[in-house]
Amino acid sequence: MANNNEKVVLADPAVIAGLDNYRNLPAAQQPTWLDQAALAAVQAELSKQPPLVFAGEVDILRDRLAQAAQGKAFLLQGGDCAETFADATADRIRNRVKTILQMAVVLTYGASMPVIKMGRMAGQMAKPRSSNDETRDGVTLPAYRGDAVNGYDFTAESRAHDPKRLLQAYHTSASTLNLIRAFTMGGFADLRSVHEWNKGFTDNPANARYETLAKEIDRAIRFMDACGADFNALRAVDFYVSHEALLFDYERPLTRIDSRTGTPYDTSGHLVWIGERTRQLDGAHVDFMSRIRNPIGVKLGPTTQPDDVLHLIDKLDPNREPGRLTFISRMGAGKIREELPKLVEAAKNSGAEPLWITDPMHGNGITTKNGYKSRRFDDVMDEVRGFFEVHKALGTVPGGIHVELTGDDVAECLGGSEQIDEATLEERYESLCDPRLNHSQSLELAFLVAEQLAKN
Ligand code: TRP
Ligand code: MN
Repeated sequence: MANNNEKVVLADPAVIAGLDNYRNLPAAQQPTWLDQAALAAVQAELSKQPPLVFAGEVDILRDRLAQAAQGKAFLLQGGDCAETFADATADRIRNRVKTILQMAVVLTYGASMPVIKMGRMAGQMAKPRSSNDETRDGVTLPAYRGDAVNGYDFTAESRAHDPKRLLQAYHTSASTLNLIRAFTMGGFADLRSVHEWNKGFTDNPANARYETLAKEIDRAIRFMDACGADFNALRAVDFYVSHEALLFDYERPLTRIDSRTGTPYDTSGHLVWIGERTRQLDGAHVDFMSRIRNPIGVKLGPTTQPDDVLHLIDKLDPNREPGRLTFISRMGAGKIREELPKLVEAAKNSGAEPLWITDPMHGNGITTKNGYKSRRFDDVMDEVRGFFEVHKALGTVPGGIHVELTGDDVAECLGGSEQIDEATLEERYESLCDPRLNHSQSLELAFLVAEQLAKN
């Protein structure tokens, strides 16, 4: 018989899920906050804030990613290397959304395939760094780790890790996501505005090619309109947001138990990914990600071994759940044909069906003679071609693309139809982090991907 004095201990779903297990494991790339009391206050505050995304949306995304893994949809994931507080303005967010919508149109039309639209947006504010410090003219300060951690200005004050920035990251993400939702649901993304999205961008061959395609779509829509077609599906798009889940002090307070299912969701974004530098099998990041229900991405660089892939599958997707796991390969144009096949084959032979997408940006970094971090557009295009070749040869599915882009007229990557050269970088280089494709380079890339998909 139960003793009446015995306390009834209600099972805590967060404990059952092991959400805090990561605290016992080595966590790479975490900030060193100086003020622990301030950190505790920020965490308490964050854990009271409303979720940014709804668990039901996350479930729908997982189903759609499962479609992509089977070749019935295509994932387009794009946005800044690092979002900044200062650049979370209406104009910049709108230009980025427009660029992604235009790319989606090119892909949907060119490949006759549903495109899953996803921003590297509304949370992409923390960066892993290869070195803790940066030295300029004999002065050494902590490296910039993204606006969620410290400031870019090279002063001791700005580079100090400040937990209050986590709260600002949350609020900036909330307002960014609010505007994205307004644009994509409120009429701005209506396919009948396909021409509008190209306005305000400078003339160049990619834009002209887009105009031609927009005219065809317009004609088709007017034809269907005359036939009395129902246009509900044209009015709005589902737009998902994603970021690298790097900081436990941000992701953990935003991870909530969903009342419908009693399981944990990281409500800071729909999909979250772990990078090359934080995907250690026995590390904190893999453990934490293994316990949330969101679709998970993992970046794979050129030194990845088939065993790494198999172990990641076992840890992150033990039930082989469709749509759960996305591998984002970032090999470099010179290596993808060599290094990717064995990884894809290993996964295939294990009976798993992860979604494979290509990140043609991060394996192709160079430093120009005048000192800019850049990428050659030709290398980016070549890695994309290599990605399609590899999957074609293996009979597997090239399911998506992950790119760093901006809707603005910057000059950060070399080449493209505007033939951006090293001197031009000096005029229009804005990124605080990695070089991004500008508007016309993004469109050009979309045309290439559409051609590859149509051939498939
Ligand atoms: N809703 C459809 C989709 O998301 C069609 C559509 C509406 C669309 N607006 C769009 C497609 C903008 C691409 C871009 O696919
Ligand atoms: Mn980057």
